[in-house]
Amino acid sequence: MGAFGAFVYYSGHYDYIVIKFENVTKHYNKTKALDGLDLEIHHGEFISLVGMSGAGKSTLLKLIIGEEKIDGGKILIDDIDISRVKKTDLPYLRRKIGVVFQDIKLLPKRTAFENVAFAMEVCGHRKDKIGKDVPKILDLVGLMHKKDNFPHQMSGGEKQRVAIARALAHRPVLLLADEPTGNLDEVNANEVLDLLLKINQLGTTVILATHAADLVNKIKKRVITIENGKVTIEQEKGKYKL
Ligand SMILES: Nc1ncnc2c1ncn2[C@@H]1O[C@H](COP(=O)(O)OP(=O)(O)OP(=O)(O)O)[C@@H](O)[C@H]1O
Ligand SMILES: [Mg+2]
Repeated sequence: MGAFGAFVYYSGHYDYIVIKFENVTKHYNKTKALDGLDLEIHHGEFISLVGMSGAGKSTLLKLIIGEEKIDGGKILIDDIDISRVKKTDLPYLRRKIGVVFQDIKLLPKRTAFENVAFAMEVCGHRKDKIGKDVPKILDLVGLMHKKDNFPHQMSGGEKQRVAIARALAHRPVLLLADEPTGNLDEVNANEVLDLLLKINQLGTTVILATHAADLVNKIKKRVITIENGKVTIEQEKGKYKL
């Protein structure tokens, strides 16, 4: 477990910085996606991450989960420099972070229940624990009544809520959502947003990357704007300004 045990232990107990970016630089060949980015996110915050297409939002999220590597600077998660985490400890870090994307990739031949259960099986949870936890998680996302539906039998919003349930299966400390409402109509988008807010109220730190100005303005939480690979505007209870 090592230091990541502390990550769990401290969560919810007092104010602390979950994620710190220090002068982070990331290139893709000649493209500078992040250019000396500094950022601090505290435990329990709900962050709306905004910026034009290509600003670096998805890159920032990918760096947090270790899907991409930085070229310069430092990323600390719970005070741990993630570039120094041993490869064998990375899956442990990943389990503390839930991720939701715009294109919802549920297993098509499995029901809502089985999709969530599968995420827990992969992590090695025992059958009785899975049997107990999945109904609770589906209840949280308001979909227990659809537990036996396959993805093609659900609306886009319902599918995204199953994807969120799946991301919550490991009880993450942090939930990253990259344009989770991008393919949804207004009603479904609002439901997904309300669910993310509820999850945040229950203690999970949430980072929502989005273009949806109307949603950001409704959330009234901290807004971080990225332009040219840097944080240019930080607003408490802010509004989408671009
Ligand atoms: N795998 C890659 N290879 C090369 N360039 C990339 C790659 N991924 C991202 N980029 C470039 O890095 C920059 C930042 O991309 P990123 O996907 O982080 O932007 P974004 O803010 O998420 O945009 P969007 O709002 O369109 O999702 C862009 O210029 C993009 O073209
Ligand atoms: Mg993106």
